[in-house]
Amino acid sequence: MPTGLLIKNIRCLVQTEDAPKLKVCGAEMAELSYVFNAYLYIRDGIIDDFGRMDDFKVRKLPVQNQDVETIDATGKFVFPSFCDSHTHLVYSGSREIEYTDKIRGLSYAEIAKRGGGILNSAKILHETSEDDLFNQSASRINEIISLGTGAVEIKSGYGLNLADELKMLRVIRRIKDTCQIEVRATFLGAHAIPAEYRNRREKYVDLVINEMIPVVASEELADFIDVFCDKGFFTHEDTERILMAGMKYGFRAKIHANELDYSGGVQTGVKYGALSVDHLEFTGDEEISSLLGSETMPTLLPGASFFLGMKDPPVRKMITAGLPVALASDYNPGSCPSGNMKFIMSLGCIKLKMLPEEVINAITINSAYAMGLSMTHGSIAKGKVANVFITKEIPSYEFMPYAFGSNLIETIILKGKIIASV
Ligand code: NIG
Ligand code: FE
Repeated sequence: MPTGLLIKNIRCLVQTEDAPKLKVCGAEMAELSYVFNAYLYIRDGIIDDFGRMDDFKVRKLPVQNQDVETIDATGKFVFPSFCDSHTHLVYSGSREIEYTDKIRGLSYAEIAKRGGGILNSAKILHETSEDDLFNQSASRINEIISLGTGAVEIKSGYGLNLADELKMLRVIRRIKDTCQIEVRATFLGAHAIPAEYRNRREKYVDLVINEMIPVVASEELADFIDVFCDKGFFTHEDTERILMAGMKYGFRAKIHANELDYSGGVQTGVKYGALSVDHLEFTGDEEISSLLGSETMPTLLPGASFFLGMKDPPVRKMITAGLPVALASDYNPGSCPSGNMKFIMSLGCIKLKMLPEEVINAITINSAYAMGLSMTHGSIAKGKVANVFITKEIPSYEFMPYAFGSNLIETIILKGKIIASV
């Protein structure tokens, strides 16, 4: 079995880095490095070398060895795999009935209030076996791999009791152990208030803090902790309590904030050193100034605002202020039943008016940062994990978000192995 892989004659190798950065901010987001007429050499699953074909001929890498497989990528582009830093892709069933209700005019909050939404998914998940949940989720993983994603964060949060939250987190661990994609797990016990706690939210927060977090930590089932800090769900005081409890066990925060209203979630996330605050449709000057200079990645989920027909976040104001921005899918049955990151790129351009260079940075290096992976993923740099894809023949990198309905990905390579070639 070859352990080396050489991709040669690449029309354009995109998102290359000589001096890798952890994230890109502000005006830098419109800058993109690439190499025309390039090669990429992968050894033992790691990016070993890359550069211009002219230099390759001079340098003579060890490609004469029999253990090197060669791919000719004439006319094609190579990108680092997409990093999707916010998903809920472990769920059971689907919610297209609510989708129809939404078309008829009900809002997301109204559907949630009458027992639909997250509580509906929790009910279905409760009745689903762990094996069945794994199989449903694994097929979504295979789908997103085929769409170019090479690293993904997955949240719990459709359990809402200890046993079912653990069921979800064990499924995420099984995905981590058995699938080629890089996975990070987030415990989101505070995703919704279960019906039996409707008028005593604090008691549910106590349950999350006193019963769920210690077990999740002792079984080492999560990397991060999340709270849905928004109107009608959890307050910023609840969020503070949960984050403090999580920090005692070493969980870094990633927060759902300001999707439905100004919730104080952004400021709370920054205060507790959250790795990311996500959604941010309601972002004003206060939120922007609290994020400036912080370690927290503002993460936008344009698939959700598109699907729900809700307002978009003020991304241009954020970038102009000097903030970094990441994009993720939010793949979930209620607000974005799709994990197609190429489409998220298009939404970034079309709906959020981001430049192609900005969306490429937002779905690679910045979204890798938002799950603690930008040292190893999110760009073409020597020593990084060789998660890349080769496109079909395309004229430019701008063509990727522009041709929003076309599948332009031809060959998927994860950890240096060819996973699929169309
Ligand atoms: O990120 N906002 C909260 N959670 C998900 C929706 C989950 C659902 O509706 O099932 C989101 O949009
Ligand atoms: Fe979400």
